[in-house]
Amino acid sequence: MRKAVPVLLLLLVAACSVSRPEPDATGEEIYTQLCANCHAADLSGALGPPLGPESNSSVQPDAFLEISIKQGRGRMPSFSSALDDAQLGRLVAYIREVQSG
Ligand code: HEC
Repeated sequence: MRKAVPVLLLLLVAACSVSRPEPDATGEEIYTQLCANCHAADLSGALGPPLGPESNSSVQPDAFLEISIKQGRGRMPSFSSALDDAQLGRLVAYIREVQSG
């Protein structure tokens, strides 16, 4: 059991270290790179809740999305070090675009 702890920590670090998107990546590219694994490519949800049309996120203000992304939420990691403000803005705009159909 003791030996399992460092291995688990390594896995956790690997899972948490997110790759930074290209500086000029579109919102869709950022979503695909950082979010699709857990929220599905079409935003319909997987490990994480759905983010698409009629989801809880779709009726929340932009600040809810921004804070969730920057600070993380529950099992979702923080992306504050992976995204600058412009990228965050494009990502939120992309999610809004999908939500509005
Ligand atoms: C490792 C998996 C994972 C990744 C990667 C991930 N999320 Fe999440 N996300 C979750 C989980 C799990 C929750 C639910 C957290 C909770 O409420 O306990 C969540 C919650 C959210 C919420 C709040 C949804 C709600 O209705 O409460 C938003 C918004 C969100 N994620 C957006 C994103 C975006 C945008 C990205 C990409 C930058 C992303 N997530 C990446 C797992 C992930």
